[in-house]
Amino acid sequence: MKTKTLRIGILTGGGDCSGLNAAIRAVAKSLMLNCSAEIIGINDGFLGLIEQRTRVISYADCSGILSLGGTILGTNNSANPFNYFGEDVSEKVMDYYVSLGLDGLVVIGGDGSLSIAHEMSKLGMNIVGIPKTIDNDLMGTDRTFGFDTAVSIVTDAIDRLRTTGQSHKRVMILETMGRYAGWIALHAGIAGGADVILVPEFAYDIDEVAKACQLRMGEQHYSLVVVAEGAKQVGGEFTIRETKEFSTDPIRLGGIANVLKMQLEEKMDAEIRATTLGHIQRGGSPTAFDRIFATNLGTYAASLVANKHFGSVVVLKNNQVCSTSLKYVANKSRLVTLQDPALASALSLGICFGNTELEAGLHSLNQAIPNSTD
Ligand code: F6P
Repeated sequence: MKTKTLRIGILTGGGDCSGLNAAIRAVAKSLMLNCSAEIIGINDGFLGLIEQRTRVISYADCSGILSLGGTILGTNNSANPFNYFGEDVSEKVMDYYVSLGLDGLVVIGGDGSLSIAHEMSKLGMNIVGIPKTIDNDLMGTDRTFGFDTAVSIVTDAIDRLRTTGQSHKRVMILETMGRYAGWIALHAGIAGGADVILVPEFAYDIDEVAKACQLRMGEQHYSLVVVAEGAKQVGGEFTIRETKEFSTDPIRLGGIANVLKMQLEEKMDAEIRATTLGHIQRGGSPTAFDRIFATNLGTYAASLVANKHFGSVVVLKNNQVCSTSLKYVANKSRLVTLQDPALASALSLGICFGNTELEAGLHSLNQAIPNSTD
């Protein structure tokens, strides 16, 4: 008796990032080679399921895309089947999924897409999730692909701002993406040798920031500030670029670099310039790390699909690729905490976070370090 060919859908949802094609390639090639599966690409994230846009993905479609930025499937970070312009179209989406004859669906997405995936799995969709986002803020995984590439791009930008800041003796402010998480700013700030790093998790006191910049101007005649788009002043509000109704991501942050520039200009007598990197952080070729990482997550997801281990998400925990449940990941985010080792080393290096309580926290961190016996 001929066994039915496995038919698996793939979609990429939410904001794009480098490494999406590497993940698509890994899932598709692995399922084709090991399970003779047929792969159906869903175009433009969940919008493709709503508006019924699909196509067959061949083995040839997956060749030569490992190093390619963006996503060959297209993506969308606003369409939500549970609130599509005010209407719940999730049942229709479910009917379409059934009509496609899919045995399962791989959703490559961030918190928004994986939260939708969780809701769809409750309706009976067989889903395996793969975490992606430059923001690195997904619950349940120590890392998402796309983050390493974004950090490399921001680090390169800091290196460039350093030389021009040095020539002109200026305070240079660089705004990164990351939404409500400070991972990109923290990691790139350390890699680029920033004097000040401002992250959403710890509100800043402008006087502390001005003091740190002033000190560095005195010592080295320039100063580098990296600010995450979600950073805010103590008692202040987020800086919002725009709001969008009926979107999985209704608030677009952005503009804090210019706000900070104006705040600093009132406090110090120096030339200050602000740069916002924006979507450059999401584009282009993935780093070698992200190519390998996305590939490892993709092949692991393929094995979860082959074993019908649905309702799960591939994650990285303690350097080990493994899986957790969609339920665990959905509707949460992972933020920088006081216990984070990168934060601890930045504080030890004297990098200013504009938050004296955080610096006080460093003392308790140091006290918590046990004596080494070797
Ligand atoms: O989640 C990824 C991300 O790039 C965030 O860092 C940023 O806030 C947001 O997406 C930007 O969204 P858009 O591409 O819709 O402007």
